[in-house]
Amino acid sequence: MNEVKILGVGGSPRKDGNTDILLDSFLKGAESAGAETKKVQLRKYSIEPCIGCEACRKAGTCTQFHDGMGQLYPEIEEAKGLILGSPTYNYNVTAPMKAFIDRLYPYYNFADERPGPYSSKLGNQGRKALVFTVCEQVKIEEMGFALEALGMPLKALGYDVLDKFIAPGCFEKGAVSKDGDLLKKAFEAGRKLAELFGE
Ligand SMILES: Cc1cc2nc3c(=O)[nH]c(=O)nc-3n(C[C@H](O)[C@H](O)[C@H](O)COP(=O)(O)O)c2cc1C
Repeated sequence: MNEVKILGVGGSPRKDGNTDILLDSFLKGAESAGAETKKVQLRKYSIEPCIGCEACRKAGTCTQFHDGMGQLYPEIEEAKGLILGSPTYNYNVTAPMKAFIDRLYPYYNFADERPGPYSSKLGNQGRKALVFTVCEQVKIEEMGFALEALGMPLKALGYDVLDKFIAPGCFEKGAVSKDGDLLKKAFEAGRKLAELFGE
C-alpha cells in the first residue's frame, strides 16, 4: 500500500474552472494508486504577498504575517508529493499562486555572504512535483512564463519536477471537461506520481 501524501494546490480565482477540474483529475489519479491526497484552493486562504523583510533568514519561519500560510506550511512539509496548477494570467501564474510561491521563502537556508549559496529545508527528502497551467490561447507561447514560474521555484526548493503539463485552448469555465483525453492524461500523471513513491 502506497501511503504517501500528495498535496494539490490550485491557483485559480475562478471556482469550478479549468484548473479546478484538472487538479481533481490529477488527485483522483494519485488516489487510484493509493496515495492520500489533500486539495488546497488558494482563493479560500488569505495570503499576504511577501514583503522581503528577510526576517525568515534568521527565524527560519515567517514572523511577519499570521495568515493562511500558517495552515499551509504544515501541509507542504507533510506531503512528499506536490501538484501546483494555475491558469495563465498575462503570461504568468495568477497573483494568489505567486504570493503562495513567494511565501515559501522561509524554506531556504541562506549563507551569510551575499550573494551566496543557498539550500532548501525541503531538499534531499525525495520530494516530487507536477506543475500545470491552463490558458485560453492555443499557441504555447501564449502561456508565456507560467510553467517555468511554477516549476523553477519548486526545483530550487528541492523537488524533482517530473512533469510540466499544459492545457491550452481552454477559455470558458469548465471547457476542459470536454477534453476527455486531457483529463485522462492528468489522471495518469497523478497516478504515476503516486506510484513513483511506492518504488
Ligand atoms: C486576467 C486574465 C489574464 C489572462 N491571461 C492570459 C494569457 O496571458 N494567455 C492566455 O492564453 N490566456 C489568458 N487568460 C485566460 C485564462 O488563462 C483561461 O480563461 C483559463 O481557462 C482560466 O482558468 P480557470 O478556469 O482555471 O480559472 C487570462 C484570463 C484572465 C482573467
